[in-house]
Amino acid sequence: MAESAIKAGQRVSELRCIGCGRTALPDRFRCEHCHDLLEMIFPGWEERGPAGLDARGLKQLWRERQSSFDPADRSGVWRFREILPDISKELIITIKEGNTPIYDLPRCAKSAGVQQLLAKHQGMNPTGSFKDTGMTVAASFAKQAGYRWVACASTGNTSASMAAYAARGGMHSLVLIPDGKISWSKLSQSLDYGAITCQLKTDFDGCVRVLNEVVQRMPVYLLNSVNPYRVEGQKTVAFELLEQLAWEPPDHIIVPGGNLANSSAIGKALREMKQLGLISRQPKVSVIQAEGANPLVRTMRERKGEKLVPVQAETMATAIRIGNPASWKKAVRVIQETGGTVEQASEVEIALAKAEIGAEGIGCEPASAVTLAGLKKLVKQGFVKPHESVVLILTGHALKDAEFTLKFHRGDLFAGTPSEGESHDLKAQQRAPIVLEPNVEAVIALLQSAES
Ligand code: F0G
Repeated sequence: MAESAIKAGQRVSELRCIGCGRTALPDRFRCEHCHDLLEMIFPGWEERGPAGLDARGLKQLWRERQSSFDPADRSGVWRFREILPDISKELIITIKEGNTPIYDLPRCAKSAGVQQLLAKHQGMNPTGSFKDTGMTVAASFAKQAGYRWVACASTGNTSASMAAYAARGGMHSLVLIPDGKISWSKLSQSLDYGAITCQLKTDFDGCVRVLNEVVQRMPVYLLNSVNPYRVEGQKTVAFELLEQLAWEPPDHIIVPGGNLANSSAIGKALREMKQLGLISRQPKVSVIQAEGANPLVRTMRERKGEKLVPVQAETMATAIRIGNPASWKKAVRVIQETGGTVEQASEVEIALAKAEIGAEGIGCEPASAVTLAGLKKLVKQGFVKPHESVVLILTGHALKDAEFTLKFHRGDLFAGTPSEGESHDLKAQQRAPIVLEPNVEAVIALLQSAES
């Protein structure tokens, strides 16, 4: 019944400027009049609902698809295609993204001071980060629009994801990354998936500036997160999360903030779910940044969210080493609309939180760990109450930055840095590899000393 309803329904989306509200052509990224970002809207929803379905119909359809073998239904993104832009099914580029797990983190809950803590792990996507959910939609659109080349500037995860989806879709890809400022594993991914990879002697913000000019002069489709199709795909994490929670919203969702597309996408999803009657209230969305890369925190605290305060970014959580975030206005709107807040975490707090998530047998990359570090502060401030339900969005897999993890456990992560003084508190979490002679007695002695 549900599939026929979809065929009968109409799915019409268009791009609209978040500033002046004018509509834009489907392959644009900014408004031609005021240069603000664009977002996708679905004008037919109010009258008919997506694909002619109401909240009950949508929930039922999405649940039924979980037992389907259709490649689009197997994707945790395209399973929700009624709330996505219309892409021909045969042109969808999917690597089975989405469908990511939720984990209970009891020891992290205790250390943060809440009764229960859940983590939605987007690092369990095919290329190891949340970027895949957006990339499947934007890359499929690029393919449908006939582009041969796609490109992005990146701190490493977008580029890994884009390179993979371009390769799967038979397109060429160009990657601009800051030289020496992304992890080796992320760099190796874009090489492995066949991208033309350029290390520019600048930071992420500098890479964005160069790429913006390149795409104006060459027939290359931009796959950075200003691309509204990426935001649409990234939106599905919240639909999937709420479905996994039986459509019962948590009190708080905590997201790391870099270029601020992810928080924007999650907020857009919650707004739409409320509009469609899928949920009755919106969780508070709070965004956590690294202290050394905190333009949103400063924007909210010093300018009440009205004007961006760009910064010269510096943090070992290289994924979020971003000083001039493109989607700041969208993120401010989400925080204000949901009643969330912003917070920042120091380098040592991030490292500790990452080790705690690792010690739960889950693990994540440093940028994701800011969520736990920030939560601890929000609990201390009383913004998050101990009995409230909290979901952390973990954005990247533990193996994305093995060098960080090794240095942490060997105790030399902060050697020679301004954080060296504070880093003594981390000793209890550190498990350096132990070099021993191949001797049974030595191993047993070690085991006994670890037991005592
Ligand atoms: N976490 C990880 C692991 C990331 O890779 C990023 C961003 C973020 C959080 C922040 O998300 O930008 O939507 O606020 N990485 C981008 C990249 C910038 O190029 O891979 P955001």
